[in-house]
Amino acid sequence: MEHQIKTIGVLTSGGDAPGMNAAIRGVVRAATAAGLKVKGIRRGYAGLLDEEIIDMDSRSVAEIINRGGTILYTARCMEFMTEAGQKKGAEMCRKHGIEGLVVIGGDGSFRGAGKLAELGVNTIGIPGTIDLDIACTDYTIGFDTAINTAMEAIDKIRDTSTSHERVSIIEVMGRHAGYIALWCGIANGAEDILIPETYDYDEQRLVDQIINQRKNGKRHHIIVNAEGVGHSVGMAARIEAATGLETRATILGYMQRGGTPTCKDRVYASIMGAKAVHLLLEGKTMRIVAYKGGEFVDYDIAEALAMKKEIQPDFMTVSHELIRV
Ligand code: ADP
Ligand code: F6P
Repeated sequence: MEHQIKTIGVLTSGGDAPGMNAAIRGVVRAATAAGLKVKGIRRGYAGLLDEEIIDMDSRSVAEIINRGGTILYTARCMEFMTEAGQKKGAEMCRKHGIEGLVVIGGDGSFRGAGKLAELGVNTIGIPGTIDLDIACTDYTIGFDTAINTAMEAIDKIRDTSTSHERVSIIEVMGRHAGYIALWCGIANGAEDILIPETYDYDEQRLVDQIINQRKNGKRHHIIVNAEGVGHSVGMAARIEAATGLETRATILGYMQRGGTPTCKDRVYASIMGAKAVHLLLEGKTMRIVAYKGGEFVDYDIAEALAMKKEIQPDFMTVSHELIRV
């Protein structure tokens, strides 16, 4: 018979994302309901190495489902990138009786989780990142909140941009991925969306388009620019010089990572948290919980990390058809 685990750990790692607290709550509540003990590991892998480990029970996750950020704090940890760091991490799990570990984070955090799994700690990953840049899943915790936060901010910039008849470049997060820019660009009715996956760095085309649209009566020009393209301030200066139109750059920055999680982020994160525990109870390890084709599923970590994510063709078509007219 399979060895039934008794104690699990949970940590959040990499950039925080609204809904991570709901996932922590899902893990803790599903585990305690199944009679498991739960250890919360603070500050991701850094806290694992430094033994920042606390006991958690059902009450320790009260009043957090509606809160942004992560009550366990998060960190990036260089030491854990080394073999010695990973071995120490596995030893720490053993020392604290942690037989199963739930890692809430992005691709980098999953690579770390994979290493721990190879060292004998049962690990399950939950995708938590506002960037939506994890190939095996159509949903990542925090993306929905982030796009709604950014969308509202861009609406506000649009008001003042129209009043002043300006060109506005608004830079949104996403690291190397353009999903936040693409979604907001469509939702905000931007005149242009620049994403690293497709942008050809043809600024003259942008300039020509701005001039043409002005001639056709457009009173403003909103460009949503992804962080992966970047250089919004320099771009604004060049566009202003080339068009003669006042051009401003706004970098939305960390506000996109904070705030009250949306209903979707709370619900999906709760389900993913509980599912991670169910997988551990089934004796599974080296898995990532994902949402694919309308269902909650799980993938092998190595297979998931090898997958490539493409922008859905419909998004590209719509962004071209509806935007540049
Ligand atoms: P994210 O999880 O959001 O992608 P990072 O890429 O910064 O964020 O990764 C978070 C942490 O995961 C890193 O600081 C490091 O501790 C760990 N990590 C990342 N890549 C690896 C790797 N290849 N091997 C082991 N640990 C890793
Ligand atoms: O991965 C989430 C994210 O906010 C990215 O969009 C951004 O590139 C990065 O984290 C910023 O990281 P840091 O918090 O280390 O500045």
